Amino acid sequence: MKILILNGSPRGARSNTLRLATAFADGFPDGTELETLHLSDLNIKPCLGCFSCWTKTAGRCVISDDMKTVRRAIELADVIIESFPLYFFGMPTAIKTMTDRCLPFMKTYLGTSDEDGKSSFHQLRDERMREKKLVLISTCGYVQAQPMYPALLKQYDLICGEGNYTAILCPQGELFGYDGLAERQKNAYLADVRTAGAQFAKLGKIPAETAERLKKPVLSAGGFQVVVNNHWGSGDSL
Ligand SMILES: Cc1cc2nc3c(=O)[nH]c(=O)nc-3n(C[C@H](O)[C@H](O)[C@H](O)COP(=O)(O)O)c2cc1C
Repeated sequence: MKILILNGSPRGARSNTLRLATAFADGFPDGTELETLHLSDLNIKPCLGCFSCWTKTAGRCVISDDMKTVRRAIELADVIIESFPLYFFGMPTAIKTMTDRCLPFMKTYLGTSDEDGKSSFHQLRDERMREKKLVLISTCGYVQAQPMYPALLKQYDLICGEGNYTAILCPQGELFGYDGLAERQKNAYLADVRTAGAQFAKLGKIPAETAERLKKPVLSAGGFQVVVNNHWGSGDSL
């Protein structure tokens, strides 16, 4: 089994979200291979929109850059974890750029319409790609996740098809960026993420009970407000 973490945070190895993604991977059994690519360290240029990959080069991108490394890593992985912060209710630039550059994975669109409106209407060049599991792990700064993620989830539903990916969405993400803040609660949350990883490795999904636990924010709304006020409210940290 091989896991690929695509870290889309501009904070690279210091990413809050990466702590969760790493905990998830830690839950996998011994012998699982893990590769982490920090997209912020790579040179990945934006898609040119030339459609050469659809019309001329049969799935090969005309741009020569580090997307080759990402593509190869995706091809070799069984589980792909996209790990990134929520930026303005959506994905940050590095993940969007990388996603756009995945167009060569798809077959040329020839005007068909989807039957049920629920699954991606793009056909894949290599159907074996469907055997890979996609896990989306994201943190955001807001006190709760639910009001923050509808646009991103809709986008993933449209790209992947509903139910074709697994998501762990964690609010209060900044807590993970500072040692000494809510350590007990953070460690409990990370232990649940590790359990989710172990269960995912075994079952290919996160059981409902674990998923429900992961939906509960690290701190209560009141507790989070106190921590935020104490930590960020002082002139020193502003
Ligand atoms: C440019 C920018 C936009 C952001 N947009 C949102 C947002 O829409 N909603 C939210 O709750 N947090 C937002 N945040 C907060 C981040 O999602 C949060 O700090 C996250 O934990 C950072 O994770 P990282 O360390 O993995 O990059 C934003 C942060 C930045 C820098």
